[in-house]
Amino acid sequence: CLSLSVSLSLSLCLSLSLSLSLSLSLSLSPTLSPLYKLLVLTVATQETDGYLRFMQSANYFNYTIKVLGMGEEWRGGDVGRSIGGGQKVRLLKEAMEALTDQEDLVVLSVDSYDLIFAGGPEEILRKFQEANHNVLFAAEGLIWPDKRLQEKYPSVRSGKRFLNSGGIIGYAPYVNKIVEQWNLHENDDDQLFYTKIYLDSFQRETLNIGLDHKSHIFQNLNGAIDEVLLKFGTKSARVRNTVYDTLPVVIHGNANTKMYLNYLGNYIPNAWNYERGCGVCDHNMVDLSQLKEYPTVMVGVFIEQPTPFLSEFFQRLVTLDYPKDKLNVFVHNNEVYHERDIQRFWEESKDVFNSFKVVGPEENLSQGQARNMGMGLCRKDPGCDFYLSMDTDVMLTNRQTLKILIEQNRKIIGPLVTRHGKLWSNFWGALSLDGYYARSEDYIDIVQSKRVGVWNIPYMAHIYLIKGEVLRNQLKERNHFVLEKLDPDMALCRHARELTNHREKDSPNPETFHMLRVPKGMFMYITNRHEFGRLISTANFNTSHYNSDLWQIFENPVDWKEKYIHPNYTHIFTENYLEEPCPDVFWFPVFTERACDELVEEMEHYGSWSGGSHEDKRITGGYETVPTDDIHMKQIGYDKEWLHFIREFISPVTLKVFSGYYTKGYAVMNFVVKYTPGRQAYLRPHHDSSTFTINVALNSKGTDFQGGGCRFHRYNCSVDSPRKGWSFMHPGRLTHLHEGLPTTNGTRYIAVSFIDP
Ligand SMILES: *[C@@H]1O[C@H](CO)[C@@H](O)[C@H](O)[C@H]1NC(C)=O
Ligand SMILES: *[C@@H]1O[C@H](CO)[C@@H](O)[C@H](O)[C@H]1NC(C)=O
Ligand SMILES: *[C@@H]1O[C@H](CO)[C@@H](O)[C@H](O)[C@H]1NC(C)=O
Ligand SMILES: *[C@@H]1O[C@H](CO)[C@@H](O)[C@H](O)[C@H]1NC(C)=O
Ligand SMILES: *[C@@H]1O[C@H](CO)[C@@H](O)[C@H](O)[C@H]1NC(C)=O
Ligand SMILES: *[C@@H]1O[C@H](CO)[C@@H](O)[C@H](O)[C@H]1NC(C)=O
Repeated sequence: CLSLSVSLSLSLCLSLSLSLSLSLSLSLSPTLSPLYKLLVLTVATQETDGYLRFMQSANYFNYTIKVLGMGEEWRGGDVGRSIGGGQKVRLLKEAMEALTDQEDLVVLSVDSYDLIFAGGPEEILRKFQEANHNVLFAAEGLIWPDKRLQEKYPSVRSGKRFLNSGGIIGYAPYVNKIVEQWNLHENDDDQLFYTKIYLDSFQRETLNIGLDHKSHIFQNLNGAIDEVLLKFGTKSARVRNTVYDTLPVVIHGNANTKMYLNYLGNYIPNAWNYERGCGVCDHNMVDLSQLKEYPTVMVGVFIEQPTPFLSEFFQRLVTLDYPKDKLNVFVHNNEVYHERDIQRFWEESKDVFNSFKVVGPEENLSQGQARNMGMGLCRKDPGCDFYLSMDTDVMLTNRQTLKILIEQNRKIIGPLVTRHGKLWSNFWGALSLDGYYARSEDYIDIVQSKRVGVWNIPYMAHIYLIKGEVLRNQLKERNHFVLEKLDPDMALCRHARELTNHREKDSPNPETFHMLRVPKGMFMYITNRHEFGRLISTANFNTSHYNSDLWQIFENPVDWKEKYIHPNYTHIFTENYLEEPCPDVFWFPVFTERACDELVEEMEHYGSWSGGSHEDKRITGGYETVPTDDIHMKQIGYDKEWLHFIREFISPVTLKVFSGYYTKGYAVMNFVVKYTPGRQAYLRPHHDSSTFTINVALNSKGTDFQGGGCRFHRYNCSVDSPRKGWSFMHPGRLTHLHEGLPTTNGTRYIAVSFIDP
């Protein structure tokens, strides 16, 4: 048996190596000498995010790369807006001088800031050989920079007609023959230089120069976005040019297509695909547990409009899992309404953080000014490692959020937060031509976490983390939040995204065209690798109530439930967490202490208790046989919300305990009753005008009052220790004659509804 398996594996191995060598020799094109080597030459004066992405794609395919000009000052003009790029040709010329004797060398000269490899060097070499030229330039459909040269271009039957200098591939001696002709200035136009050589038919023919008309190798995206589609493979992703049915290898986001390239770069070559998910998310991560000290973070908190659940926001800030002595907090509050919340937070938490500073509405700061101020506090402090900007409509449910963002180690990164049950989120996947929202193909999948990763996106807001060193370098100007009439976050994102050019102030020779290029082109990322939290709605927030959050049951149902519904409420259904202290009297938790307190406060703030007399103008007929000292929900404008509460949270309990009875969830009599020895202390035995009644205890026996409780006569059964936040539910009219037992001291509050009258 043993010898058999050995011989078997041996023969397997043999046949395998055979087929391997066979396929290898087949895949080589007959004309391609295996001796040819490919060298990539690229010009980059700084390690921009685009450059790093380029290198990542190049390393993935094992390209051999030589970077020219790193660290040099850029003198090649404002590429993209006007002519320029001569510096690139000069650097290439210098590099080629050293390579002329290398007959076996194929040189690929490409840009790097806005370029991604979608395939490997073997594929490029094969396609170059198949093209049968000595030098091949990228092609595009738009002519630049001199439109008058159009007539001189050879016409093409199909494919792109004009030369683009962002990609050149050729045998080293021939490339050298072209670039050695360069004798112009650093800021002269490289594309024009190459165009003139190509349009010279003598040179074109003797040097055998061609254009890659159908994007076999080079895909320029300018004017061609509609031609390309993402194509997913098992290991990687690339683009297909659907017009020429080619799979280009070098993807170039020339002119105004940088954002589209960023989108493609979220997939190509191995950033994400369906089978493996994110391929680059773990690159360059930082392990916080390996650091001697946690980084210092400035947290900017912005209250720019009345915002519900603000105390919950602050609570979540305090409970973030991060050393508080490493957090400095800056709060901009633009709302007088919220001064009460901030005061409360300040009193509880001023000593929790390393520092705590509030700028209030009296400063009359615009939103842009306030955001500049917060960011400036981190920028000017060399000890500030990160700036975390948070708007108060962000409910971070993940206490690890700050750590996760820091560990992801990006210049600018935000956690994905979405409006519950909506497609609304804190980022945009694409921008329209005028710079506003446009939906990217992948937006919904990212929001719904069907695609999980770290995504390069053009716009984010509400919450983001920026490295302090970035604020002191690329974003060192002080006024990022104010730009034209843009919303402050849009202004910031545009500042980060775009290349900005500054004329150097103290240029030695002001006569010369001398620009210092600050290629910001910074990438901004959104991560959805974890669940972080949600965005709440600040719309329809009526702040004229005493505890206005109580009214948020429609607008922010998740936060309302979290704040006001008892944490054990759901156990009623999962663990039968309810009691039956008397026959058909069910007892279950429904409100949090907070809900009880706020409802009582709301009623006391309103203050017009009925006094418990028989005359009652609030009800039809105006006569109440068993009157209580109460305030109706309707009087405080809470009837719609209360009925919604009944339908959402009481109806399911009814269905459970009175199975087969479907409540309409309708009630006219919804009120809070107050029992106190000085006014009304008890209620004589009575039936309720309801099919069933709920009765929620709003405060605690022993601490808030003595006595109290409820007695059901038919069963000789009392519940005399009501629990705060718990509700009774019992039939109203026939069987459950009941009375309110006397409150002997203090004040007892209950909320009552006569349901399905
Ligand atoms: C690149 O080289 C490494 C190490 O030699 C190898 O494991 C990897 O498969 C290569 N990648 C590609 C795309 O050929
Ligand atoms: C606040 O600023 C706005 C705009 O800058 C100005 O119109 C307004 O008069 C200022 N209000 C106060 C109270 O200073
Ligand atoms: C806000 O609530 C107050 C008090 O209940 C009410 O008078 C007012 O109409 C409400 N405003 C809006 C816009 O709903
Ligand atoms: C919820 O139920 C658990 C288990 O019975 C109990 O320990 C806990 O105190 C309850 N929570 C509240 C807020 O009452
Ligand atoms: C009612 O119950 C109490 C004890 O809980 C008992 O002492 C009393 O006799 C009962 N009354 C009737 C009428 O059953
Ligand atoms: C009544 O309540 C007050 C305060 O809640 C307390 O000081 C007093 O001792 C209570 N009286 C009795 C008789 O329990």
